[in-house]
Amino acid sequence: MRIDLTGRRALVSGSSQGIGLAIATELARSGAAVVVNGRDQAKTEQAAAGITKELPDAVVVPIAADLASAEGAESLQAEAGELDILVNNLGIFGAKPVLEIDDDEWRRYFEVNVLSAVRLIRMYLPGMMERGFGRVMNIASDSAVVTPLEMVHYGMTKTALLAVTRGYAKAAAGTGVTVNSVMAGPTHTPGVEDFARELVGDDLPWDEAQRQFMREHRPYSLIQRLIEPTEIGNMVVYLSSEQASATTGGAVRVDGGYIDSILP
Ligand SMILES: NC(=O)c1ccc[n+]([C@@H]2O[C@H](COP(=O)([O-])OP(=O)(O)OC[C@H]3O[C@@H](n4cnc5c(N)ncnc54)[C@H](OP(=O)(O)O)[C@@H]3O)[C@@H](O)[C@H]2O)c1
Repeated sequence: MRIDLTGRRALVSGSSQGIGLAIATELARSGAAVVVNGRDQAKTEQAAAGITKELPDAVVVPIAADLASAEGAESLQAEAGELDILVNNLGIFGAKPVLEIDDDEWRRYFEVNVLSAVRLIRMYLPGMMERGFGRVMNIASDSAVVTPLEMVHYGMTKTALLAVTRGYAKAAAGTGVTVNSVMAGPTHTPGVEDFARELVGDDLPWDEAQRQFMREHRPYSLIQRLIEPTEIGNMVVYLSSEQASATTGGAVRVDGGYIDSILP
């Protein structure tokens, strides 16, 4: 299978680092023009420049906007124009005892992790349906189906994204537009590397450190290592392609087998 996204225009929300940046890079590698986004202008420009340094022919447009707000989403849309591929990657996470999560924090998680995606889908889905092609992907997590006690508010948003995905896929039925969730598992991002180092210490080389982290703290992983962000990018590239036309309304796992169940 050869995937060619030439002529497609994509947006990856929250892509100035981590998984989003890897997704944007892989979409660009496959030929799509990509909008890279984050709140910080300089960091967003740097991320875009990093992609074009690696892929000199790539069309990469940095647009700084806070997508947790309606105004931010509107300003991004004004600059980005129409899209064929929308990747709702933006997501925040952090540990907090569940009895200490107050109303404002519940609302903040919902606004950033769910409403940001819903707004962009509302903006872009009608155009995709009219043109008869579109790919929407919401980056969910193993936490969508295995609620983590240390971040129930985060898990709630990822569960919600699965429902949002199914609902908008139904809204796009028969139009050539697909809407899917990608359930990422424990992934090697700077934040997760720091977290793993905190738990297993600084002495071991990274490869050993991450294996110890996985063995002791993520024992259900079947690959027994962290997932590389590019591995998630590869799945997004596939789901963005013409070839993935019969996959919609579902949740696709890139979790290294971490979720101990046959179905999501
Ligand atoms: N890391 C994991 O192991 C893991 C596992 C499963 C699922 N996931 C999911 O994968 C996605 C990406 O995670 P990650 O770990 O790669 O994230 P990350 O490293 O924390 O990166 C977050 C990105 O979002 C941007 N951002 C934050 N708030 C924003 C806002 N309000 N508007 C626009 N951009 C914003 C950040 O840039 P600025 O700060 O400059 O805005 C940054 O580029 C999330 O949905 C997460 O839940 C991650």
